[in-house]
Amino acid sequence: MPRRSTASRALLISAAAIATLAACAPKGGTPAPQRTPPVAPPRAASATPGAPGEDRFVDSVLALMTLEEKAGQLNQLSGLADPTGPGGVEAGVGQIRRGEVGSLFNVIGADTTRSIQHLAVTESRLRIPIIFGLDVIHGFRTTFPVPLGEAASWNPDIARQTARVAAAEASAAGIMWTFAPMVDIARDARWGRVVEGAGEDPYLGSAFAIARVRGFQGTDLRAPASLVATAKHFAAYGAAEAGRDYNVADISVRTLRDVYLPPFHAAVCAGVQTLMSSFNEINGVPAHASRLLTRQILRDEWGFNGMVVSDWTGIGELLNHGIGADSADVAKAAIDAGVDMDMVAEVYRKALPGLVRSGRVPQAEVDDAVRRVLRLKYRLGLFSDPYRGISDTAEQRAMVTPAYRALAREAARQSIVLLRNDGNVLPLKKTLATVAVIGALGADTAATIGNWAGVGRPADAVSVLDGIRRALPRANVLYSRGASPGSSDTSGIAAAVATARRANAVILVVGETPDMSAEASSRATIDLPGAQMKLVRAVRATGVPAVVVLMNGRPLALQELDSLMPAIVETWFLGIEHGTATADVLFGDYNPGGRLPVTFPRVTGQVPIYYAHKRTGRPSNDSTKYTSRYLDVSFTPLYPFGHGLSYTTFTTSAPRPGAPTMRAGDTLRVEVDVTNTGSVAGDAVVQLYFRDDVASITRPVRQLTGFARVTLAPGEKRTVRFPVVTRDLAFHDASMRLVAEPGSFTLFAGPDAEHGDSAKFTLATPDGRPVPVADACR
Ligand code: NOJ
Repeated sequence: MPRRSTASRALLISAAAIATLAACAPKGGTPAPQRTPPVAPPRAASATPGAPGEDRFVDSVLALMTLEEKAGQLNQLSGLADPTGPGGVEAGVGQIRRGEVGSLFNVIGADTTRSIQHLAVTESRLRIPIIFGLDVIHGFRTTFPVPLGEAASWNPDIARQTARVAAAEASAAGIMWTFAPMVDIARDARWGRVVEGAGEDPYLGSAFAIARVRGFQGTDLRAPASLVATAKHFAAYGAAEAGRDYNVADISVRTLRDVYLPPFHAAVCAGVQTLMSSFNEINGVPAHASRLLTRQILRDEWGFNGMVVSDWTGIGELLNHGIGADSADVAKAAIDAGVDMDMVAEVYRKALPGLVRSGRVPQAEVDDAVRRVLRLKYRLGLFSDPYRGISDTAEQRAMVTPAYRALAREAARQSIVLLRNDGNVLPLKKTLATVAVIGALGADTAATIGNWAGVGRPADAVSVLDGIRRALPRANVLYSRGASPGSSDTSGIAAAVATARRANAVILVVGETPDMSAEASSRATIDLPGAQMKLVRAVRATGVPAVVVLMNGRPLALQELDSLMPAIVETWFLGIEHGTATADVLFGDYNPGGRLPVTFPRVTGQVPIYYAHKRTGRPSNDSTKYTSRYLDVSFTPLYPFGHGLSYTTFTTSAPRPGAPTMRAGDTLRVEVDVTNTGSVAGDAVVQLYFRDDVASITRPVRQLTGFARVTLAPGEKRTVRFPVVTRDLAFHDASMRLVAEPGSFTLFAGPDAEHGDSAKFTLATPDGRPVPVADACR
């Protein structure tokens, strides 16, 4: 998986060629004099999508292009330093000169990207700039919490802020386009890519999708610190059967539209400029060949006028899906479906000119795709400044500033979830004389920055052990490795037990290695891997007070751990300030307020498990035989969606709808009071859910429709107001019309998806009939 450690990962151009290019390339912030582009962009051209002048300019460039140059603009190649899939093609100076490369990714660094851009804008016939992409997922040099962890903050604005910083750092290193955010809904914890998204819920996922798009793109794409964002993977990649990566998704169109698509639509509404197709098929049609997804839903229904990129060799893989006999067939399938850019497979470059000449693919289809690529480059301002003002010196200055580090610490603290805290074991006292940190992950700085860490460096990161040492400068902080997630070796457990016996308190750090929650990292059992449970049992048996710090990127099945240990803190992979933020929470300098964005099962066999499940004819009951349940384990989760404790206590009132009846088209104002009933300040996350009590199609037991994270002083009470609109209550009926149906609804307000008080209201519609609802941006 991608772990890029230096900014000089060069592309496939030979080292010698790079050196030559670097020598002749312009340095510093001012673009070197260059030949005038073939068509000068309109002066003071606006970057506003659809601005006057944009189409004229794009068409004027298109008019000059040969078919081969058009296919070249649709071709994206990777610097092969960090392949994220099989295959890959070597781009070379010759290809860039011939205009055969529209985009490069995995090429990093101001000098390197300037050199290559210089080649494109001075030596290719039409001098069209290259767009440089990269997977900037949760930070660039400053690594922030993994996306799932950050979603546990239930604070989308923190995600906007961290994406903004990632954009600033990455663009200083020549990157213009990130393949993020991943907005896939993930309900099967076996799937390794749960870590990259915002969890299981479309409402929470949409809020984070919007925040991250806004953070990456900012308000002006031409600003040097903005990146083009990508909502990926379109669509239903998270519905992969059995949680096995790249597997098929066989889901109803209703589930697709009501569960998996909303975060994509939200991203489009927030102005995302690109989407990436997903590897999976949906109901028999691979996403890369799905006209339904890309042409009908994305472009026609949602009015998206940005660009769609394939995933890594996704178009070529249509051959493996068996929907084409040769690369010409699959190139045709993908371009017909509306996929504009071919990542790595080079199928478009090789096959499209022939397909157009033979009449199998209309010229207009290729032209449209090229227009979308050129438009993106225009919106970024590349035709005016192909270098976006980057320089090596500015790049060095842009990284890991004190302000970025402070944000990393704040984001990390907000993402921590206190799962269990019997008898208020936590926070620990800073006066402890001897503390033992046990577990290989505890001293592992590389683990803190997680997977997809960009150019993040372990050397910048603070491990849990280091964080605790900093927090307790006068204490004796011992460390023993004990056991690690990646091995069944138990030989370190005896030493760990001996270390534990010397301490007044033990902090056990257990979980997954970052590459266990990642692409191509599905797990058939999601228990604590390796010998870690043996370590936990042995340490627990000493009787020394012990708490658990978890590091992981997906829900784990923690039934035994939960039954053994009085306190468990979920820290995910929090980025460079992981250890500092964890120590802040362990020793009470920060009161944890994160909440789970995913349901945690008791055992793997319960997966997929998610709160918004449908009702059944035989509602689950652990003690009644002929109900929807298991013989060997409760049907309930270990920790529900939305769960998270605090060092204080809160009460949440029943929701108060502003009126007993809401007329379709109106907004229902719902109030919820939340009070800090404890003795320290803390963050409550008020969650508002609803249930459609009776409908023509079965509806989930609950659906999130509002949330707010609020900080309350001891004794403080706050009234939180949630607007509920008709669109929130709508679903796709038997004829796949988006409708809201009249009748009774139940609102629930509380601390998680299983608890809280309720209230009812009625939706009234003209003649008591279902009302069609527009799927408009909200
Ligand atoms: C494959 C992954 O599925 C996708 O998310 C990523 O953006 C590309 N590789 C490029 O690295």
